[in-house]
Amino acid sequence: MGCSLVHFAVQNGTSIFAPVSPPADQIRQLFFLVVAVCAGILFIVEAVLIYSLLRFRRKPSDPTSEPPQVYGSMPIEIAWTTAPALIVFLFVLALFRTESNIRVPPIPEGSEPVHVTVIGHQWWWEFHYETEDGKVITANELHLPISDPDGGTQRPVILTLQSADVCHSFWVPRLAGKIDLIPGRTNTLWFQTQQPGTYLGQCAEFCGVQHANMLLRVVVESPEEFRRWLDNERKPAREPSNDTLRKGRTTFLNTSCVNCHRIRGTTADGAFGPDLTHLMARKTLASGMVENDRAQLRQWVDDPQVTKPGCLMPAMKLSPTEIDLVVEYLRSLE
Ligand code: CUA
Repeated sequence: MGCSLVHFAVQNGTSIFAPVSPPADQIRQLFFLVVAVCAGILFIVEAVLIYSLLRFRRKPSDPTSEPPQVYGSMPIEIAWTTAPALIVFLFVLALFRTESNIRVPPIPEGSEPVHVTVIGHQWWWEFHYETEDGKVITANELHLPISDPDGGTQRPVILTLQSADVCHSFWVPRLAGKIDLIPGRTNTLWFQTQQPGTYLGQCAEFCGVQHANMLLRVVVESPEEFRRWLDNERKPAREPSNDTLRKGRTTFLNTSCVNCHRIRGTTADGAFGPDLTHLMARKTLASGMVENDRAQLRQWVDDPQVTKPGCLMPAMKLSPTEIDLVVEYLRSLE
């Protein structure tokens, strides 16, 4: 069962046993060291226990016999005080070594790290990319280029983490350890990987009713794919190409959706909810809970509380026709 659980976690991209980045690898090594030492202690303690049970068990031939009793043995007292202290000290040293190995990102000369600001919200993730040509804002799906393509220069990813409300924790097990997003404070985290793929993560600090559904995905792709994605994200929203989409846009802009959501290139400029400028570039909705398809999007626009009870977006009480129009328009935002 243990194996199938590990297998499940690897398959789903969240296993600490399948690191693809140096910090995650260091943490796995530390984990194995602690487990090995603890397994050794368990083995020794159980062996002594079983030996004592067998060696000193009451014999039918001599029911009153008792093993020799020892009180206040100085050597034994010293031994079982110093041994655990030494083991804990060893763990502390190993922890400090891991900490110092993963704290500072290696930035070789000529390398351009990827800087992203991550903002935790109840219950979704906001990502800001600072590029030469302006800011890109997106949500829940973090796109990154692979580091060191074809043995080139390493390109670490450096995240700056903040919170808009309560404490959250950013955790993508295959890439790095957990780090808290704390109101009024800025933390940083780095990782880099040469392995393209989608890595799943989630909030690892209880932050309210939908904490368990504060999921995130990290999409690591080739430098060209990343560049293409970023170029698309930088553009303002697509203009509606037909009447239905134009009506959909007008409906959207006339509701209070615009107080919370931004669609760049329109008057919608809310910053409380996820940026929708390129909504269809994302594979999921509701912070990774459901697939971003027509049915789920329609359900979400109709009443988000059905998909994600307790989330901060209320049902907008639109008529079925209005919902269809808004969904059509949103689905054109590639
Ligand atoms: Cu955010 Cu738990």
